[in-house]
Amino acid sequence: MPTLGIIVAMREELEIVLERLQEPQTTQRAGMDFHCGTYLGKAVVAVVCGVGKVNAAACTQMLISEFSVGSVINIGIAGAVEPSIRPGDIVIADTLVQHDVELKALGLPPGQVFRLDTFDFPADPALLAIAQTAAQQIEGHQVHTGRIVTGDQFIACNDKIQWLSATFTALACEMESGAIAQVCYLNTVPFVCIRSISDNANHDAHMDFDTFLPIAVNNASTLLHAMVPSC
Ligand code: ADE
Repeated sequence: MPTLGIIVAMREELEIVLERLQEPQTTQRAGMDFHCGTYLGKAVVAVVCGVGKVNAAACTQMLISEFSVGSVINIGIAGAVEPSIRPGDIVIADTLVQHDVELKALGLPPGQVFRLDTFDFPADPALLAIAQTAAQQIEGHQVHTGRIVTGDQFIACNDKIQWLSATFTALACEMESGAIAQVCYLNTVPFVCIRSISDNANHDAHMDFDTFLPIAVNNASTLLHAMVPSC
């Protein structure tokens, strides 16, 4: 069975996995700790990549090249872009786009990576189905499937949310998964991203973020726990 790579941006998001990792062995690469072991009977490598696209891309390539993972799951938190989505809700990405990629002067639409044969990065259909089944275990919060957009910006501005919604029909925004998705696409490695909403990406985003972080982390971890045995 191929090893599963689990990437999160922040330490809090990995705590529940690390507590339950059997026979853990940690290897350092590029300043990141890659925790190899067995989680719910499945061989995994779990890693905190840090915030942002460069960290996420470097970490993903390392998981693939050095740790030979056969698929990658990214869990964590995100800001809501679609107004009906509330903190605590779950968004499962069916496609991902990097909203901060901008080559308008060369005639490309926002998000289009130069000379790449795709505009967006689709989630692996099998992993997506597993995530959707696992999401039924979340009680008291809505589960949405749709596009997540990624950029090296913490969004806390109504105008920006409206632009993300109008330009990309995005449900949520965050800072890593589009980069992870691109690296997985380049390596033909299956990928899925599940995010729990920590804030509404508006002017109060920083306050909501502090309040909802623990709830969002807990939801994302519950989902991962439900998914891993089927991955
Ligand atoms: N992750 C969680 N909330 C976010 C926001 N508002 N913008 C970008 N990334 C986020």
